[in-house]
Amino acid sequence: KRVAILISGGGSNMLALLDSMEDAGHPAEPCLVASNDPEAPGLAKAAARGVPTAGLDHRPFGKDRAAFEAELHKIIESHGADMICLAGFMRVLTAGFVSGWSGRMLNIHPSLLPKYRGLHTHARALEAGDAEHGCTVHEVTPELDDGPILGQARVPVEPGDTPDTLAARVLTMEHKLYPAVLRRFAAGDRRPVWLP
Ligand code: GRF
Repeated sequence: KRVAILISGGGSNMLALLDSMEDAGHPAEPCLVASNDPEAPGLAKAAARGVPTAGLDHRPFGKDRAAFEAELHKIIESHGADMICLAGFMRVLTAGFVSGWSGRMLNIHPSLLPKYRGLHTHARALEAGDAEHGCTVHEVTPELDDGPILGQARVPVEPGDTPDTLAARVLTMEHKLYPAVLRRFAAGDRRPVWLP
């Protein structure tokens, strides 16, 4: 399976995915790392690993999401992608784009969905006094952060946690969960991954 990975920033999840796909016999290979920010630091890291990259600045498209997504779709298709992994990609994708990749697009979200869809998930978990938190990999559907769950990883909330300390603990698990889910998904195995 040829995988296009979409990022917006540092791309730590993207790097974890690239590293995992170097394993011999892995059912997936990276064909593109693209970002809505041409300056995303993750693009240089991907290029350094020999992975084709593309920066498509969304800002010149203004409110015309469809035009931005049409161009993004063309770039992804031109690299022969079979599927997409969203990894720290911070643009909401319209139903039009999502439906073109139905069943072939994954996302990682830093909460135990269905809790805390959207942003600021770590602060919200702390405010709620949750004893545990975590991350979820799901298939992307038109509804934000809502598709079928393919895996989750749990972490304890520790006394004195701040959003940053909790986010760091979750991120460590993201880097384990996403590669594990991608390996199964690319092999056609739909059994969910539960960590630890
Ligand atoms: C992480 O919080 C991740 O949960 C979310 O985007 C943030 C940055 O991820 N998807 P990355 O380091 O750019 O992969």
